[in-house]
Amino acid sequence: MNETRASALQLCPFSAYLEAGLNARFKVVRWFEMDEGARAAWLAAHGPSVRAVVTGGHIGCTNALIESLPALGVIAINGVGFDKVDLDFARRHGVGVTTTPGVLTDDVADLAIGLTIGLLRGIPAADSFVRAGEWPKGDRAPARQVSGCRFGIVGLGRIGEAIATRLTVFGPVAYAGTRKKPVPYAFHADATALARWADVLVIACAASPATRHLIDGGVLEALGPDGYLVNIARGSVVDEAALAAALQDNRLAGAALDVFEDEPDVPEALLRSPRTVLTPHIASATVETRRRMADLVLANLDALTAGMPLPSALE
Ligand code: 8YV
Repeated sequence: MNETRASALQLCPFSAYLEAGLNARFKVVRWFEMDEGARAAWLAAHGPSVRAVVTGGHIGCTNALIESLPALGVIAINGVGFDKVDLDFARRHGVGVTTTPGVLTDDVADLAIGLTIGLLRGIPAADSFVRAGEWPKGDRAPARQVSGCRFGIVGLGRIGEAIATRLTVFGPVAYAGTRKKPVPYAFHADATALARWADVLVIACAASPATRHLIDGGVLEALGPDGYLVNIARGSVVDEAALAAALQDNRLAGAALDVFEDEPDVPEALLRSPRTVLTPHIASATVETRRRMADLVLANLDALTAGMPLPSALE
C-alpha cells in the first residue's frame, strides 16, 4: 500500500495516548531514536513530506531542522515553554508554533506548593529516616514552619498567579516581574529586592535571554542563609553553580528544584546536598493533565491539516 499521509517528526517520547493520536494522523518518524546519519539520509529522501514537528517544551526545535523541512506547517510543543524555539525564525519560514497553555497551570502550581512544604518540613528526608529504621533511635530535629513565611514569586504569569493564590493561605505574597499587575500582592521592582523581603522565593517566569541566570549569586545572597528557593520554571533562570556554592557554604537554607540547566543531568553538588529536594521535571506530569495537553497538541495538528487557524498558536 502506498503511504500518502504527511509525515510528522516526533522529537521526544510522549504518553501512549499522544503517540496513538499522532500515529492515527501522520506517518510518525521517531526522530529521537535516530542517529545523525539516519536523520540526514531520511531528510534527503523524505524531508518535503514533513508537515509537523511535535516536541517537548524542554526540547524545542533547532533552526537547522526548520530550514531542512520545506513543507513544515507547525511546531507543536507539548508544554508551555517555548524557549527552545526561535519564534522569529519559525515565523519567517511560515511555520506556526503552538503550545498547551492553561491546561497544565493547576498541576504546576500544585507541585510548587508540594515542593515548598516538602523542602521546609524536610518530608523526603523524614521519609528516608523512617525507612532507614532511624526513628526508634530518637526524633528528627524540628523543621521550618511554612505558615507565616513570606513568599516571593518571580514571574506572575498564569502559573505564577495560580501559585500565589495557593500560597496566600500560608502567608503574605509579593512578586517581581516585567510589569506591575492589578493583583492584591506587593510588587517589587527586581528579583533582588523581592529576595531580600522573602523567606521563600518561587521561580515561575518564562525562560528567555533576559531571564537567563536572573537568579544569580546576588539574588541568592539577598535571600540569605534562612531563605529557600523553589524552581518550577526552567533551569536556565537560576545560576546553578552559584546556587550549589550558596548551599554548600550555608549561605542559603535550601532549594527545591523540578528543573535544571542541563536536564536530565543534575550537578553532583545538588545531588549530594542535604539542603535540596529534587524532582525530575514532573510539574505537568499527571495522567489527567498530560491527556489534556495531548488533546490540545492534536487539536492544533488537526487544524493544520484542515487549513484552519491553529487553536493555541503563539503570536
Ligand atoms: C513538560 C514543560 O514537562 O510546559 C512546559 O514547558 O516544561 C512541561 O510541561 C515538557 O514540555 C515535556 O513535554
